[in-house]
Amino acid sequence: MSIKIKTAEEIQKMRVAGKLAADVLEMIAPHVEVGVTTGKLNQIMHDYMTEEQGTIPATLNYHGFPASSCISINQVVCHGIPDDKKQLKNGDIVNIDVTVIKDGYHGDTSRMFEIGSVKPFASRLSKVAHECLWLGINAVKENATLHDVALAIQTHAEQNNYTVVKEYCGHGIGADFHEEPQVLHYASPELKQIVLKAGMVFTIEPMINMGKAGVKVLGDNWTVVTKDRKLSAQWEHTLVVTETGCEIFTLRTDEQPVLP
Ligand code: MF3
Ligand code: CO
Ligand code: CO
Repeated sequence: MSIKIKTAEEIQKMRVAGKLAADVLEMIAPHVEVGVTTGKLNQIMHDYMTEEQGTIPATLNYHGFPASSCISINQVVCHGIPDDKKQLKNGDIVNIDVTVIKDGYHGDTSRMFEIGSVKPFASRLSKVAHECLWLGINAVKENATLHDVALAIQTHAEQNNYTVVKEYCGHGIGADFHEEPQVLHYASPELKQIVLKAGMVFTIEPMINMGKAGVKVLGDNWTVVTKDRKLSAQWEHTLVVTETGCEIFTLRTDEQPVLP
């Protein structure tokens, strides 16, 4: 069990990879609309990564995952597989999650999109999930623990009568896609032992459910859905711990941070 502290050179490479991952989400935004298929969105992102950016889509063939992005609609919690027959429809809430590899280092980020006119209850779930990500980010600084991060996220979700998914978590990231530590989004006692140090790089990516927390994996062995088929929302950033807080590698120009 060891969490790698990144060198200044590695951090610079991850800054670049993170920015490129954020750029993919900014690039795809105008294409995310009623009637487009998730397969088409994946194709546009794949071509942009490989042809424009010179990045490698990290999810493609990762443990057999068949696409260059995960696209998760409504009750799909995460790991939705892009599909040429799956069209976005009015009122959907959708997560797009992309991970690029540049110069050997990973940048991992996701955001929600609202398709057409979305019901207020769905929009609110997405908004609160975004706040959960940012409350987690705001808890990051040297000598804080991952328990502080998890508690901030869980408290805000539960104050809004939502639940936190337990089976999937954020993760250390660097030369490998998924490194130590596991960044749980709910308070668990062992997280108090994981003390943050400058140079640790990890993701925070809370999955917040409208109904119960339980999830199941569909027969394709990838798609994760809520057991009760109610809505789920997720946002993700990759960041490095600093003495005073953190630096977010995957910030987008279109994002409004939730400040402490
Ligand atoms: N990007 C996801 C994460 O945030 C991982 C997707 S792995 C895949 O960790 F195989 F499902 F693509
Ligand atoms: Co991730
Ligand atoms: Co991701």
